[in-house]
Amino acid sequence: MSRFEGQVAIITGGALGIGGATARKLASEGASVFIADINDEAAAANVERIREAGGTAASSHVDVSVSEDITRMVNEAVDLYGRLDILVQNAFGVIDGVSIIQGTALTVEEDGWDYGIDVLLKALYLGAKHAIPHMRAGGGGNIVNLASVHSFLQEPGMLVYEAGKAGVVGMTRQMATDFGPNGIRVNAIAPGHIVGEGLAKMWEKNPSGHEFFADQYPLRRTGTPDDIANGIAFLCSADASFITGHTLAIDGGLTVQLQEMFGARQAEYIRAHPDTIIPGAAADRDSV
Ligand SMILES: NC(=O)c1ccc[n+]([C@@H]2O[C@H](COP(=O)([O-])OP(=O)(O)OC[C@H]3O[C@@H](n4cnc5c(N)ncnc54)[C@H](O)[C@@H]3O)[C@@H](O)[C@H]2O)c1
Repeated sequence: MSRFEGQVAIITGGALGIGGATARKLASEGASVFIADINDEAAAANVERIREAGGTAASSHVDVSVSEDITRMVNEAVDLYGRLDILVQNAFGVIDGVSIIQGTALTVEEDGWDYGIDVLLKALYLGAKHAIPHMRAGGGGNIVNLASVHSFLQEPGMLVYEAGKAGVVGMTRQMATDFGPNGIRVNAIAPGHIVGEGLAKMWEKNPSGHEFFADQYPLRRTGTPDDIANGIAFLCSADASFITGHTLAIDGGLTVQLQEMFGARQAEYIRAHPDTIIPGAAADRDSV
């Protein structure tokens, strides 16, 4: 199936994780993909993987916290492939950078706030600003922004991430309103816990903690990058031609559960599995 034959897609953070799988998925269905990432080695490896599978891909060193990099990213992709149809705004350092954005309104410093909001929100505004004129010129296009279950459900000490991801939902709805008349659909995906290359390494050290996490999902597993890539491809495809401004939760049902019953289930799980090492729990903080 070639739903994206003749189309050009930029994927920020397209080297690894969700972005990596999305680049492979869109390329496998005919898109020429442009991977914009700070991890040059992993980006080159993903380009190679796509080419070996018969797809078309290129990469460029792009830091989405830098305005000039985003301008250059769009120009390079359009110079290389001649058009732009799809922009997947996914880049975020889940591990790197977390320390300066982690905390409450009392503990986060202004530079942590600025960096977090630059990557989580300003980069998406700039990406759209530069991509939309090319999409308009081509008769339409698709933007998919990465939100999170953290857009809707809050965790202590996650002020910047959750403000940013909530903003992604609002920005997506707003841009859908502005650019629908141009045939540009703007949607978002809110993933649950998705185990890419980085998180897989973390969970290898703590399989009992991963099982505990997985058990919290109605589908009794955590997600894979392919779960999200499939949703992104759907939203960019003609199958979703009347969907815009929507945030699609792809979370194995995590966010549809009634919280009181969910808490009771977790307590029962720990009674049945008392040796579980729970990431983030005070008693286990030094174990993982
Ligand atoms: N993994 C999850 O559980 C999860 C859950 C909800 C939302 N998300 C969101 O999905 C997106 C991708 O997450 P992931 O888990 O695949 O992350 P990941 O860490 O596996 O991959 C992120 C990619 O982005 C790149 N990157 C990081 N900072 C960058 C920057 N400033 N400029 C350009 N590239 C940069 C990294 O090099 C990497 O290739 C993020 O927006 C994240 O917030 C992830």
